[in-house]
Amino acid sequence: MKPVLAITRRLPEAVEKRARESYDLRMQDGDDPLSRDQILDLCKDANAALVSVGDPIDAAFFAALPQKVGIIATFSVGTDHIDLAAAKANGFVIGNTPGVLTDATADIAWLLILGAARRASEGEAEVRNATWSSWRPTHLMGTQVTGKKLGIVGMGRIGQAVAKRARGFDMEVHYFNRRRLPEDQEFGATYHSTIDDLLPHCDFLSLHCPSTPETRGMVNRNFIAKLPDGAIIVNTARGDIVNDKDLIAALKSGKLTAAGLDVFAGEPNIEPTYRDLPNTFLLPHLGSATVETRNAMGFRALDNIDAFIEERVIPFKV
Ligand code: DGY
Repeated sequence: MKPVLAITRRLPEAVEKRARESYDLRMQDGDDPLSRDQILDLCKDANAALVSVGDPIDAAFFAALPQKVGIIATFSVGTDHIDLAAAKANGFVIGNTPGVLTDATADIAWLLILGAARRASEGEAEVRNATWSSWRPTHLMGTQVTGKKLGIVGMGRIGQAVAKRARGFDMEVHYFNRRRLPEDQEFGATYHSTIDDLLPHCDFLSLHCPSTPETRGMVNRNFIAKLPDGAIIVNTARGDIVNDKDLIAALKSGKLTAAGLDVFAGEPNIEPTYRDLPNTFLLPHLGSATVETRNAMGFRALDNIDAFIEERVIPFKV
């Protein structure tokens, strides 16, 4: 008999196929977000669970989860939807998918940098809505990216991949990280030991730190005040790092030229004002959304589950 695997969301075809070969699956027919109780129901006779970003894997979930479900493998590198302390206290193993989404997410950070700087949302809307009147010298002038200064908060794998790409744009790159990286991982970027020290050097600022009690709400009025006037912020990390009210005020006042956002506090129910601002370039959390990357994430989650079921060491244990 195959072990039972509960899966909360539909997975890429190749990943579901592999999962089906090894496991007896418990899945929903549709692809809607499930509540805690619905996930618990899926898990009731499971040996393992594969969950996704946004699933409520909190303390109440672990308190009610049958001990038979030994591992929760998340289809994500981020674990902010999981109460890790409660998992540990209740004896559940957690696995994630680091490494495989680095390039796709760095590419999206660059899409945001370029889209926000070059007013892509406004331009695309004109073409789609047939409101483009003519070529004119003053039409939708944006901000030049090439040769500017880029600041990176959090120089992990994705931050490094963003820095590497910035070399192609002749940018001067600066970064903050809890520790300075070895030179071969800096890609020519200048290290700052505090965020306060980094901020004045950022014409563009790209966020790549996890959501933690220290970083939640970090991008607030004081933080933004230390950036040069007219700076552009992009976020592919987590929405709750940003204080929405303060970011919106800075976008309205002109303190910031623009923002490119792929992640939002409370997504998909985002702060609605973002939709009304012309100087935002907005995406629905697409950082890792390529076929290649989503397959690799799914296979990595299954590698974690296979290892746990076969009583081997889990390759990507949180
Ligand atoms: C993750 O893996 O945490 C990402 O946010 C998904 O794109």
